[in-house]
Amino acid sequence: MDSEVLVVGAGLAGLSAAFALARQGVAVRLVAKVDHTTSNSYLAQGGVAAAYGRFDHPRLHAEDTMRVGRELSYRPVVEMVTAEGPALLQSLLPHRLFAVDEAGNPHLDREAGHSHPRIWHAPDGFTGRALTQWLWEAVTREPLVTVERGRVLQLLVNQGQVVGAWVMTPQGIFPRRAAHTVLATGGMAGLWPFTSNPETTAGDGLWLAFEAGAVLTDLEFIQFHPTVLAWKGRRPAQLLTEALRGFGAQLVDDQGRRILADHPEQELAPRDEVARAVGQRDAVFLSLRHLDPEAVRHHFSALAATLRAMGLDLARDLLPVRPGAHFTMGGVLTDEQGRTSLPGLWAVGEVAATGLHGANRLASNSLLEGLVFGRRSAEAIARAPRSATPPAPLGPAPDPSRWEVPPELSGWLDRALSVFRDPEVMDACSRWLAGSEEKVAGQLARLVLEAAQARRESRGAHFRADAPRPSERYRGHFLHQRERGLWFVPHPEPYASWIPRLHQLALGWS
Ligand code: SIN
Repeated sequence: MDSEVLVVGAGLAGLSAAFALARQGVAVRLVAKVDHTTSNSYLAQGGVAAAYGRFDHPRLHAEDTMRVGRELSYRPVVEMVTAEGPALLQSLLPHRLFAVDEAGNPHLDREAGHSHPRIWHAPDGFTGRALTQWLWEAVTREPLVTVERGRVLQLLVNQGQVVGAWVMTPQGIFPRRAAHTVLATGGMAGLWPFTSNPETTAGDGLWLAFEAGAVLTDLEFIQFHPTVLAWKGRRPAQLLTEALRGFGAQLVDDQGRRILADHPEQELAPRDEVARAVGQRDAVFLSLRHLDPEAVRHHFSALAATLRAMGLDLARDLLPVRPGAHFTMGGVLTDEQGRTSLPGLWAVGEVAATGLHGANRLASNSLLEGLVFGRRSAEAIARAPRSATPPAPLGPAPDPSRWEVPPELSGWLDRALSVFRDPEVMDACSRWLAGSEEKVAGQLARLVLEAAQARRESRGAHFRADAPRPSERYRGHFLHQRERGLWFVPHPEPYASWIPRLHQLALGWS
């Protein structure tokens, strides 16, 4: 055994898990493709959602999450995450990660879909950077954590149990055995051509889990962020945080007319609706010109500086925006501790489908999910019986070339699996994918496409021109498993029925 636990990924969820494990005396090997700076968490702006103060309550946060999730969020998980958030964030207050007022209370921003201001944010607005930097420093100080730069090519599976992974490092490809493997690899939105994600979020964990035999769900729900700066030559594209709209920024067309003037929630409508409103027009701009420029530049100082370096003034310029691929709502099906359907394998953060996000994630719930599930998985692993499974017999090292991304893939994803989906284009994409399935990214795209083709309705982030409304018939989840293929179960089946089964599996590990 190289370590008790192998954690794959150095975003907020992976770092939280590694830190909490080490603090409980568990030896961890943390594998990161580069380091924490190339994670989606690091790029996150808005912040972390959690109810605070007299006027808000976790119950209200839970209701907003349920409403925005378009009837596919799983209530027990929503209530658990929203209830754990406030104490968890308050425990971080002494570390000065969040903006606070003179009395030391967090300064809370407002974001789309939230009925109350409840977004805890860094003083300069780059909240993901502040949190991941702080946790990275804490994790790398832990003597029980070994950090390795590398990419996981394949999980090691022995008698149906995950017992580590093949890792490609700059020195070569090595098996890393572990009693538990935690996937914290992020989502797959980095595969789209116009994206707020780093290239490294290429769906690795989704494929590793699927190939090993775990169940995936809700893959068709890829969230597009409505206000990504439409600016050439920048990858990842620059996100213009939703907190700007919470601060009063408006979305206008090329005539200066507000495009959401008639929506009851205007610019703070749920993200799926705003993305469609922006995506159906040729030219949309985010405008803060009517606001006090000094207040804007002060409140969003890091973003203002980033734009200044691009020759743009956050407070004065009309900022061209379009929807960009941003977040993977589906993922590896887990229980409330992050256990997957495979013994020895855990999934936390964006790679996981915990039931929190449903068909449309509520803004700033993802960093919260990463923190909550990173810690919960660590506690469950520390309590789990030590595995007596003998070491996996090793075959030849896997071929890394299957991880190369076919150059045409991003164009097909853009045409077939964006904000608006057309059945004929999806069919054409399916024909093209038939020729590119020797590559992991092609096979993963095929899974997303299968679910999108099968869901003949529109719900949350999945919008089809030929079926523009939700249908009761599809109020449920498409699941994928290697042996079983694609199948559908009504909501809340996968969660309600899988969780007891996952617990049984967990109890069976000895
Ligand atoms: C944002 O700052 O707009 C992104 C927040 C999120 O995706 O949760």
